[in-house]
Amino acid sequence: MDTPWTKLHSFQSVLVVLWLLFLSHPGYSEEEPCDICRYLVVNFKQGLEKTAGQNFGGGNTAWEEKKLAKYETSETRLLEVIEHVCDTSNFECNLMLEQSEELVETWWFKKRKQYPDLFQWLCMDTLKVCCPPGTFGPDCLSCSGGSERLCNGNGRCDGDGTRSGTGLCNCYLSYGGPFCAECSVGYYEAFRNETHLVCSECYKACSKCTGPEDDSCVLCKKGWMLHDRSCIDVDECGTEKAQCRANQFCVNLEGSYECRDCDKACVGCMGAGSARCKKCNKGYSRDGVKCLDINECNSEDPVCTGEHEVCVNAEGSHQCSCEKGYSKKDGVCTQDQQDQKGLFEDMTDDEIVVLQQMFFGVVLCALATLAAKGDMVFTAIFIGAVAAMAGYWLSERGDRLLDGFLKGR
Ligand SMILES: *[C@@H]1O[C@H](CO)[C@@H](O)[C@H](O)[C@H]1NC(C)=O
Repeated sequence: MDTPWTKLHSFQSVLVVLWLLFLSHPGYSEEEPCDICRYLVVNFKQGLEKTAGQNFGGGNTAWEEKKLAKYETSETRLLEVIEHVCDTSNFECNLMLEQSEELVETWWFKKRKQYPDLFQWLCMDTLKVCCPPGTFGPDCLSCSGGSERLCNGNGRCDGDGTRSGTGLCNCYLSYGGPFCAECSVGYYEAFRNETHLVCSECYKACSKCTGPEDDSCVLCKKGWMLHDRSCIDVDECGTEKAQCRANQFCVNLEGSYECRDCDKACVGCMGAGSARCKKCNKGYSRDGVKCLDINECNSEDPVCTGEHEVCVNAEGSHQCSCEKGYSKKDGVCTQDQQDQKGLFEDMTDDEIVVLQQMFFGVVLCALATLAAKGDMVFTAIFIGAVAAMAGYWLSERGDRLLDGFLKGR
């Protein structure tokens, strides 16, 4: 049976399948276990804050203080906190929580005094999914950027604080070198002291410079030439550096060049447009400087010679189409069929009957709806029924009339 319940159930199964597909999708990257553990601990701490002072009546009787102290360290509170640590939809959080629930319980009852930092006790020391800051990898080795200011503050240590990664520096855009203590190509040292380095961008044409101005260049990027501490654009189109294909022309750009296609009127060209052709393409002829389309339809010898054919000129070519009222069939212009059928011509009589009944049905519905506005459902049904009968009777009477109407006679 297809009850609403089974429908809901199959809808849920579809959701589950979609979710599994999402998980197994190759592009789906698994979250770093240390991040999951950190998330778990953060939420745990929030839960502790929320339940702090709970079960406390506000009074300060000895009895109430005792009751509060009892709740503070109770299993009731622990379970309350654990219940809200992971969102139900967060699969990875729930998995890690399930695997470490007993550990958290142990910490709550036995280790809390000795190891107050749950993150360090759980994520670093016990589950061993995290490392102390500035260290990385399975054995929590020091990051290569030194542990004082990692990567000189100009990059991130790969795997910092986790049990994975390489420990190498991933420098921010303007910085380079193994410890991000240098400026990368196109940047200069705007500030440097013993511990800090700030790199700023050179003028766009410089790869090395002493300042941001266009005349403080020391080295130029590719496509530029150094002249008097300024970088000047190289016109590649005038040199052998530019290699464009046949039927293309070269355009010089700042620092580079581009090959663009010749106009379709050309075979080979020196630039854009039909006036820069080396030779004119087939279907075009030289008129002054431009290569213009030849109108084949105007030639002395007729080009379209078939019966009922007409010549239509096009860019660089022409077509032989048929006169109005004719169409190409097997390469010959043939007269189109004249006797167009009426809209309802090829309908069977049965279909017409159905159409009629539908027509009356629509009228009945309209009547019933109008009646229902008088807010009496029974009136509506009654009028509907009367109208149905009247409609049926009328439909037989109106057969001939409607038949004629539909056939357009
Ligand atoms: C270097 O510069 C930074 C940023 O201006 C400053 O905080 C730091 O104290 C300086 N260090 C030394 C050794 O001067």
